[in-house]
Amino acid sequence: MKCRKCGHEAVINMRQHKLALCGEHFLEWVPEQTQRFIEKYGMFTPDERILVAVSGGKDSLSLWDVLLRLGYKADGMYIGLGIDGGVDYSSQSHEMCEKFLANIKSQNCIPTWQPTLHVVDVAQLYGETIPDVAARTTRGRGKPCSVCGLVKRHVMNRVARDGGYGVLVTGHNLDDEVAVLLGNTLTWNAGYLLRQAPVLPADKPGLARKVKPFFRFYERETAAYALVRGIEYIYDECPFAEGSTSIAHKEILNQMEKDSPGVKLRFYLDFLRAREQGLFAQQAAHVELSACDKCGQPTSAPGLCAFCRLWEGKKTDGVGQASQV
Ligand code: AMP
Ligand code: FES
Ligand code: ZN
Ligand code: ZN
Repeated sequence: MKCRKCGHEAVINMRQHKLALCGEHFLEWVPEQTQRFIEKYGMFTPDERILVAVSGGKDSLSLWDVLLRLGYKADGMYIGLGIDGGVDYSSQSHEMCEKFLANIKSQNCIPTWQPTLHVVDVAQLYGETIPDVAARTTRGRGKPCSVCGLVKRHVMNRVARDGGYGVLVTGHNLDDEVAVLLGNTLTWNAGYLLRQAPVLPADKPGLARKVKPFFRFYERETAAYALVRGIEYIYDECPFAEGSTSIAHKEILNQMEKDSPGVKLRFYLDFLRAREQGLFAQQAAHVELSACDKCGQPTSAPGLCAFCRLWEGKKTDGVGQASQV
């Protein structure tokens, strides 16, 4: 297979685009496409300070790399969840983020910005790791993923708001988005479908705008970018993700993609079009939100938000300490 641009040996063939590229041209193509998506979907501008949530994985580190090379004022944020899983998962992930930052700074390839990495260690701040909180509460039926998602959303919002960032960026790729879409479609969860989008506006006081600039790249493309660019990342999935429905959905969708290249991308883009046309609009019931009594983030429940309620059973006042972030 030859590169369409120069005729050299291709490193990747993207069947959904009928496009094969060599390493050099793939490293050009990914940032060009990312820039195109940022503009097309009105994600952010070069003047804004951007907070990239980095997990140490291929998607978010590649995304931070691309945004910095494109000249965006992008800082990183790593949330230490205290997950071991026999592979020292959280510490390894953190190390990958620090390594990435040291590496890119030493390469002199960033036009203007001096990036920093914010690190929030959940156990240090709140007194318990994610698996500990999950074991103490009934949320998530023994699996920490639901507690973990809640804590990550809260911390991301808080760091974005307190740091004065205009926009919060995550590394979700097309495979992530399509797996969620399939799950929401199987249950016809119109409320979730309405809220699934590459750009979620900051339409409530205290919430940061959330965007996913990589949402049109397949997972194998972000992995290839990290590999060709020489970005070290954590290969392991979170140990708690094993056997999850979203992984099962990804496998099914990949099987379909094999037989019908482009089916994943079309499924998602056609969904976005239907959503734009108002297919789920009647679900947009107005939910009255108030500020949480303790942390100030918007909540639909009176009094404390779900995050603050998580720590109620604990003796130490972790949420108070969190204001140091
Ligand atoms: P996941 O939910 O693990 O598929 O991750 C989706 C996105 O959330 C990643 O691409 C990151 O942008 C962000 N993310 C996940 N875990 C963390 C973490 N521990 N710290 C910061 N950001 C994270
Ligand atoms: Fe949070 Fe797996 S439980 S990343
Ligand atoms: Zn080429
Ligand atoms: Zn709260």
